[in-house]
Amino acid sequence: MSELSASPTPSSPSPKSRAPARPVRLVLRAAAAVLVAGLGFCAYAVAFPAHVPEAVGEVVENLTGANPHPVVLQRPPVAPLSAMAQLGKQLFFDPSLSGSGQQSCASCHSPDHAYGPPNALDVQKGGLAMTQQGYRPPPSLMYLYRQPNFSIGPDAGENDDAPTVQQQASASANVVKSQKTAGGPSTSVEMVPQGGLFWDGRADTLQQQAYGPLLNPVEMANKDVDSVAQKLQQAPYAKHFNELFGSRIFDNPKMAVSEAMFAISRYQVEDPSFHPYNSKYDRWLEGHARLSQAELHGLRLFNDPDKANCAGCHLSKPGKDGLPPMFTDYQYEALGVPRNRNLAQNQDPKFYDLGVCGPFRSDMKAQQQYCGMFLTPTLRNAATRTVFFHNGIYHDLDRVMAFYNERNTDPGKFYPHGADGKIDKYDDLPADLQKNVDVADAPFDRKFGDKPAMTADDIHDIIAFLKTLNDDPAPSH
Ligand code: HEC
Ligand code: HEC
Repeated sequence: MSELSASPTPSSPSPKSRAPARPVRLVLRAAAAVLVAGLGFCAYAVAFPAHVPEAVGEVVENLTGANPHPVVLQRPPVAPLSAMAQLGKQLFFDPSLSGSGQQSCASCHSPDHAYGPPNALDVQKGGLAMTQQGYRPPPSLMYLYRQPNFSIGPDAGENDDAPTVQQQASASANVVKSQKTAGGPSTSVEMVPQGGLFWDGRADTLQQQAYGPLLNPVEMANKDVDSVAQKLQQAPYAKHFNELFGSRIFDNPKMAVSEAMFAISRYQVEDPSFHPYNSKYDRWLEGHARLSQAELHGLRLFNDPDKANCAGCHLSKPGKDGLPPMFTDYQYEALGVPRNRNLAQNQDPKFYDLGVCGPFRSDMKAQQQYCGMFLTPTLRNAATRTVFFHNGIYHDLDRVMAFYNERNTDPGKFYPHGADGKIDKYDDLPADLQKNVDVADAPFDRKFGDKPAMTADDIHDIIAFLKTLNDDPAPSH
């Protein structure tokens, strides 16, 4: 009041000289407040990148490797194993079920190796004397519980009452193949094979599948289903068969083995070690882990439709329903992987493993447009493997990446020279079927002599990203 009423006199210069100082102080104070608020916001943004505007979240992602858009992943519920699954577990680890007495499912699908092969052999040995070479490397058994049945159609999903696969295939024989682009909408109009188990999709269910190795002469090598039933009846767990399936179960050997196969499949479906979803990438998706700069760069290249385009086939984003990404689109592709001349079957120059159209499945023989196609495997835990592709041709990810990057631009690095001195490109396919090989999707869309899609640094970073797909701690039994 007194200040207001006190009119400054010209003789008192002091208020005049102090007047400019006050706004300066105010500005300084305001600036300090803005700075503190800004720092606070930054700290908040770094801690909760999901709660700040998109552009800010992206800056934080670049700086810290945190996920600005975390999701809640839907994992399968964890419950104690049912009696059926417990029996299946015993069967899974029982070598007495093999003709040699030395080989169980776990011998080729080792729980300490993501249920894949425990060694770097191109293919595993088996048979009565454990001397016979297999045909293909064992895939990981992890994450198979979501594998759809084999079908041929425009989109994934159950095609229970669809026409037979042969009818579907014939309808699509002349349709031009569409492109697969990471992140893009599916432009797929042509009919594509999808789903199923084995590299060629010839089994639909884990139960049906388990007969394969038990009766395969180069694997567990049982003479027939009856001899498997005899082994079950002599096993220490035979009493569990009686408890679960009745005292007369072994009167019907086929039924006993069918129940055994169902038990093995229940074990794979129920035991959380087959689908833990605890990789660094899963934790990053949920906002609980940060990617290194290399991993983050690798992820972006993986998803970049013009560069690596890996996500065009190895899907990397969670579903709308929160289902964790499986790193496969469950479809089949012909990549034209080089022939593995170390395989016994390939000593015969007329032998070709053509995947979907045979020879290990015979129902699709006439569908030549699918020859050379193999199932796109999950990349979860792929970085723990030491054998890659359907014929085990490569043993490290550097080689796999070089193949993706330079198959077209510098094919001489991967294929032998033929008698005429020319590079024998796609040498694991007969000449008339080489047109099935994918040359449309990046990184395979480059031409001879072009600059490859990825640099050495890019490849290094993609491999760093692939390692974030390993379950952690390493899956163990
Ligand atoms: C001698 C090694 C060997 C043994 C023993 C073995 N497997 Fe396999 N397994 C393989 C190979 C090789 C493949 C791929 C075969 C193919 O694609 O034709 C495979 C494929 C599979 C698949 C399909 C995986 C996929 O990604 O599609 C399942 C499931 C499977 N095996 C389960 C079992 C079970 C259960 C047992 C025990 C009853 C078993 N395996 C025993 C080598 C073996
Ligand atoms: C057009 C679809 C497609 C694209 C794009 C693609 N892949 Fe594949 N990938 C496949 C198929 C199909 C196979 C199996 C091929 C075979 O064995 O003949 C495979 C196999 C693999 C394997 C071997 C896995 C195993 O268990 O043996 C790795 C590793 C892999 N891909 C990584 C990548 C990476 C990294 C990229 C990006 C640079 C990529 N893929 C791009 C379809 C694709």
